[in-house]
Amino acid sequence: MRAFWAWRNDESARAASFSPEPVPFEQHERWYRERLADPHTLLYVVVGPDAQPVGYVRFALAGVRFALAGGEAEISIALDASTRGRGYGTAAIDRGCEALLRGGLADRIVARVKLGNEISRRAFLRAGFVERVRSDDALELVRIA
Ligand SMILES: CC(C)(COP(=O)(O)OP(=O)(O)OC[C@H]1O[C@@H](n2cnc3c(N)ncnc32)[C@H](O)[C@@H]1OP(=O)(O)O)[C@@H](O)C(=O)NCCC(=O)NCCS
Repeated sequence: MRAFWAWRNDESARAASFSPEPVPFEQHERWYRERLADPHTLLYVVVGPDAQPVGYVRFALAGVRFALAGGEAEISIALDASTRGRGYGTAAIDRGCEALLRGGLADRIVARVKLGNEISRRAFLRAGFVERVRSDDALELVRIA
């Protein structure tokens, strides 16, 4: 739980987030427990080649809680800053999506990336996403089964 908090609260991860304020641990703890109990949330820990945890991938599945179209899931990801730039992010996005789509939990996966987050945009494109909508502050990408 603390590792997730650290990955989420890292300065550059917050800069990439649409909710960039630091999250106090108590608030994170509540959020984390709710997410674990929520059947519409999937949390994966990304592990590196030595089985060390390096970050997370989270999927929000279409359901009561999330304003997503039927069959749609939303992905978010953050890696420990010390492990970025080695291909782990691209691999984690690709494998996480593969598992979700193959398992029939979604038929398309959406990523919302802040405009200017070029590394993230490239990671999603490399992992099979295509650009869908661009708004004032966000680029939406989608991967279809
Ligand atoms: C976005 C993130 C998950 C990408 O994972 P990563 O392991 O760092 O990225 P990868 O090593 O897989 O590289 C992805 C692409 O970015 C490029 N890249 C990676 N680090 C780079 C750097 N420091 N400078 C320039 N390009 C870089 C890679 O070359 C690759 O592009 P290419 O395939 O066209 O060559 C990770 O950087 C992260 O956690 N960032 C902070 C949180 C965030 O932005 N989350 C996404 C919000 S939607």
